[in-house]
Amino acid sequence: MTEVINTVDIEQELAKQSPHRIMRYALENYQNIAISFSGAEDVALIDMASRIRPDVSVFCLDTGRLHSETYQFIEQVRKHYGIQIDILSPDGEEVRQLVSKKGLFSFYEDTHKECCGIRKINPLRKKLLEVDAWITGQRKDQSPGTRADIPVIQDDLAFARAGETLTKFNPLANWSSEEVWAYIRAYEVPYNPLHDRGFVSIGCEPCTKPIGPGQHEREGRWWWEEATKKECGLHASNIS
Ligand code: ADX
Ligand code: SF4
Repeated sequence: MTEVINTVDIEQELAKQSPHRIMRYALENYQNIAISFSGAEDVALIDMASRIRPDVSVFCLDTGRLHSETYQFIEQVRKHYGIQIDILSPDGEEVRQLVSKKGLFSFYEDTHKECCGIRKINPLRKKLLEVDAWITGQRKDQSPGTRADIPVIQDDLAFARAGETLTKFNPLANWSSEEVWAYIRAYEVPYNPLHDRGFVSIGCEPCTKPIGPGQHEREGRWWWEEATKKECGLHASNIS
């Protein structure tokens, strides 16, 4: 049974707290909760969680198009923390239909929406039917256009089961990139080697590139599209 909770009141309280305390609140109040891990600097969440609940549930959306460095990093994280990581694949038939009809790089021609829908959103939707709450590494500073207002806790209306509540935690919402990196260095957290090669925001290999001096991290994602469309639907409430 999903716990009924007034997220507006709790958000006001939790918004003043550190990511560690938000993680503690999330993991102590929700048994059936999972971290959504992209294989980038959101590894900081796994590090925090491992100190609170070492058997924390973690999942990755394996689009089939991640960098080999990211796959190796996910494996490194699994071993380092001794955790199970649920690796979610897209539906084979849906992928087959897409690539047979439109080729392997359709996103460069007709936007990333359809491919992300098949490779990320549909598997996420299925996964979120199994949990009462999920935790993401979203931050306000990642995308001034779409993430500037994200709360640390919210009702996820986009992926909730009919008639039930799905709670979404964004414990890093109020941290800057610098604060996340200070944490990773201070606690010697393993990180994706692509970060040392100019990649700041990391997604799928064909849709991610390193950025140059003065560029915002989001400019390295889906660079052929307008900035306002740079959400793939995982965080649908950011653009609704
Ligand atoms: S995205 O929507 O543009 O792809 P972004 O890369 O900024 O998202 O990551 C924000 C958060 O979304 C991550 O910290 C993670 O919680 C979740 N996320 C993104 N990509 C994945 C993925 N492939 N698997 C699991 N979670 C992901
Ligand atoms: Fe497809 Fe690119 Fe979206 Fe990955 S980020 S699912 S390759 S469109």
